Amino acid sequence: MRIGIAGLGNVGAAVMQLLQSNGDLLSVRTGKKFEITAVSARDKNKARNCMLGDIDWETDPSILAARADVDVVVEVIGGAEGIAHKTVETALKNGKHVVTANKALIAVHGVVLAQIAEKVGLQLSFEAAVCGAVPVLKTLREGLAANRISSLRGILNGTCNYILSRMEQGGVDFAAALAEAQQKGYAETNPRNDIDGIDSANKLAIMVAVAFGRAPDLDSIFVEGIAALTPNDLRDARMRGGCIKLLGTADLTPQGELIQRVQPVFVPHNEALARVSGVLNAVEITGDFAGKIIVQGQGAGGTATASAIVADLVDIARGHRDCAFGVAASAL
Ligand code: HSE
Repeated sequence: MRIGIAGLGNVGAAVMQLLQSNGDLLSVRTGKKFEITAVSARDKNKARNCMLGDIDWETDPSILAARADVDVVVEVIGGAEGIAHKTVETALKNGKHVVTANKALIAVHGVVLAQIAEKVGLQLSFEAAVCGAVPVLKTLREGLAANRISSLRGILNGTCNYILSRMEQGGVDFAAALAEAQQKGYAETNPRNDIDGIDSANKLAIMVAVAFGRAPDLDSIFVEGIAALTPNDLRDARMRGGCIKLLGTADLTPQGELIQRVQPVFVPHNEALARVSGVLNAVEITGDFAGKIIVQGQGAGGTATASAIVADLVDIARGHRDCAFGVAASAL
């Protein structure tokens, strides 16, 4: 399987590392050899945590997306519009499968892109777009495929959870905790997307599409971030026997209305989500036959995100072809 990687930041470099260090295992598990034929990023000379060797370099990722020697394009550029969008669209229109970690792109253009893919039997996969290493979309699409889902509740942003945990447990102030999260590679290029709840909203919109079969609709999500929270708020919450978490929630009312929110919520200490700290993400899913299922793990960072990206590559190598959102995109 010949792979082109568009974007060589934290995540792109970690994907290269994973493919290089676990290549033998991936071959055993899929019967295919994984080969990176080309990569693309703006600056070839930037210091990176991966070996480029003699892999071809493209300055323009949309050129990479159309190369004859690429079967699957991994898009880790980011952003809903511009070059990331063009790269994914070009790849699909040129008969390439696409694996992306780009939640903004999928939340905004995912349905149209999935329609393009599904019309010609290509795979568009984006497990890494929601909660890093945590296989939450797979859980919804596959493990819980037989259930009607009534609610989702999740800690969807590692940066915010890290900041709140550090403020609560380490007495660190907001700015210092954010700087730590940035330094560890958890935050978005513009960290306001994390802090203001936008990143969580993108992820919630994608999960909602898979869980409830409704097209992602960012406008229907009430969004409030964590910037107004003070150490006093966190102390008060602790005195009241809980903590404050930025939660993304979606609840289906008996009338069929879907209520979607991203906001700081008081979570009592005896709830599982209260014990999810640092960069960890977790999602609690309620299905009518399965009951409550909780998935949890590292929600951000290069290696965690690479794990989900390469799992999607493994599915493609095994020949699995699924509707991106679990139902035909034309039906969303
Ligand atoms: N900035 C995101 C987060 C990265 O902190 O969760 C993973 O989507």
